[in-house]
Amino acid sequence: MELILCKNYDEISERGANIIARAMIDKPDCILGLATGSTPVGMYKRLIEMNRASWIDFSRTTTFNLDEYYPISPENSQSYRYFMNENLFNHVNIDKKNTYVPNGSAADAEAECKAYDAMIENSRGIDIQVLGIGINGHIGFNEPDENLITGTHLTALTESTIEANARFFDSKDEVPRHALTMGIGSIMRARKIILLASGKNKHDAVMKLLDGKLTTACPATMLKLHPDVILICDEAAYNG
Ligand code: PGA
Repeated sequence: MELILCKNYDEISERGANIIARAMIDKPDCILGLATGSTPVGMYKRLIEMNRASWIDFSRTTTFNLDEYYPISPENSQSYRYFMNENLFNHVNIDKKNTYVPNGSAADAEAECKAYDAMIENSRGIDIQVLGIGINGHIGFNEPDENLITGTHLTALTESTIEANARFFDSKDEVPRHALTMGIGSIMRARKIILLASGKNKHDAVMKLLDGKLTTACPATMLKLHPDVILICDEAAYNG
């Protein structure tokens, strides 16, 4: 795992955006794996600026998002589909038909997960996957557990994630209890992964990424088995 240690959040956003921009310039039809949460917002802002300056072009880009609450309507302002439209897709020249987010309103969650995996498999595969990391070490909504699941699946959110995400809702009670998420296997198949971590509250999870151990109690540690992962973190996350 390569480490890029940044002074602060702005530098994380800049470095992350530069890596994605480089990939998009090298491969105009590249396939991006995208993440929600507060961490990638600055990076998306930077990508929007680059698109407006005509440095990067999204017209041939395809995206697959990591996860979505379940059940939730895509029109709900708390849905990850809505988040992606607001924070990136509405502001760049991407064709929304080429942006995929698991469908939180699918009647049959299991069928939706299978279809999502099939779509990723039938594409040329994800070139760069963007990840945040949960305080508890989750990636996507792969929560700490005895077992981790390889493919896209329906999962229950842990109490720590519900509490962490409550800040986006009027109250904790409104946070959905379930989500559809790419599995660890879906994530590991990406050719390249960038993981962004900012702030003191990510310190413990970041330290677990940098020791020599794998544990399902910190799902992000599975990334140590991937040949091309860049951890982009700030001093607050690194030093604690
Ligand atoms: P955050 O979430 O970027 O809002 O901290 C990260 C995550 O839970 O994966």
